[in-house]
Amino acid sequence: MVKLNTRFQNIKINAKFNTLLILAFLVGIILSGLTLSNILYQRAQYEISIQAELLMQTMNSLRFYTQDHVNPLLKPKLETASEFIPEAIPTFSVREVSHYLSKNAEYKDFHYKDATLNPTNPKDQADDFETRLVEDFKSQPQRQEITGFRSTPNGTKFYTARPFVIKQKQCLECHSSPDVAPKSLLATYGERGFGWKLNDIVATQIVYVPSEEVFYNTRRAFFKIMSVVIGIFIAVILLINFLLKKVVIVRIKNIANTANAISTGDMSSNFQEDSKDEIGLLAIAFERMRTSLLIAMDLLNQMQR
Ligand code: HEC
Repeated sequence: MVKLNTRFQNIKINAKFNTLLILAFLVGIILSGLTLSNILYQRAQYEISIQAELLMQTMNSLRFYTQDHVNPLLKPKLETASEFIPEAIPTFSVREVSHYLSKNAEYKDFHYKDATLNPTNPKDQADDFETRLVEDFKSQPQRQEITGFRSTPNGTKFYTARPFVIKQKQCLECHSSPDVAPKSLLATYGERGFGWKLNDIVATQIVYVPSEEVFYNTRRAFFKIMSVVIGIFIAVILLINFLLKKVVIVRIKNIANTANAISTGDMSSNFQEDSKDEIGLLAIAFERMRTSLLIAMDLLNQMQR
């Protein structure tokens, strides 16, 4: 430690300054980089989850709309129609709307699904990933939401999943047993999607939103901000070096050179300084010493004569 200290003492002023500045610079860059990436990542995740939540809420509203307004109009026809009228069913309307939404180039990776273990319509069949989510909800009934990322052939997507619980008895009319289901349902879908029970978790409502672009933009923002910060740090280091050289080092060197010249008998050199800062005062003091020295030497010369 002592060795290190003496070694540090022997280093030139600007090297000392630069070592400390660069150290402070590195610590500053690392700390601000970590904080910034943390904030940006959280913001990106928040932005994505807001999109997912909006899609989920919109689809749920559509579900209620279909249930309250469309279903009552079509219900009387379900018994008599030869084919089932799927427009009466909320899952049909949300699946169709999700399909229309994804036709829009900007929203092609946004997707909603009632991913079901044992569905009436095979289009609602949960895949392996979604089946695991439904199983998770079944094993932890208090859990209301699972969110995360899923890698798909179209890139990584963020998902929000919620348990789909059968809460109303009238749902069982079409989902419990073929005996009680409308004939048109059996005619269209066959004997699928039965055996559901009240309070069963039969599916997960899942929303997928693309996440890669948001994270890509986040990374770009991070690098942009960090390059500005690094640029500012470098400019500050250069400026401090420039000032240090101009205000301190060159002037101290001048004083040292003049003092050296005087000590070897060159009494014509003088400590010229216009500024009145600390170094200026030092130079003025040296200059006063030089004049005192001249007077003393004059006196000495006169006495010798
Ligand atoms: C009149 C019969 C009928 C009633 C009543 C009914 N459903 Fe369905 N349900 C269907 C049909 C038919 C489908 C498939 C629609 C399609 O083509 O997407 C379906 C689909 C679903 C799906 C998607 C999975 C699947 O089976 O394809 C869920 C979840 C669902 N219904 C839940 C409910 C709930 C909850 C209720 C009560 C609020 C309910 N259903 C009432 C007929 C019915």
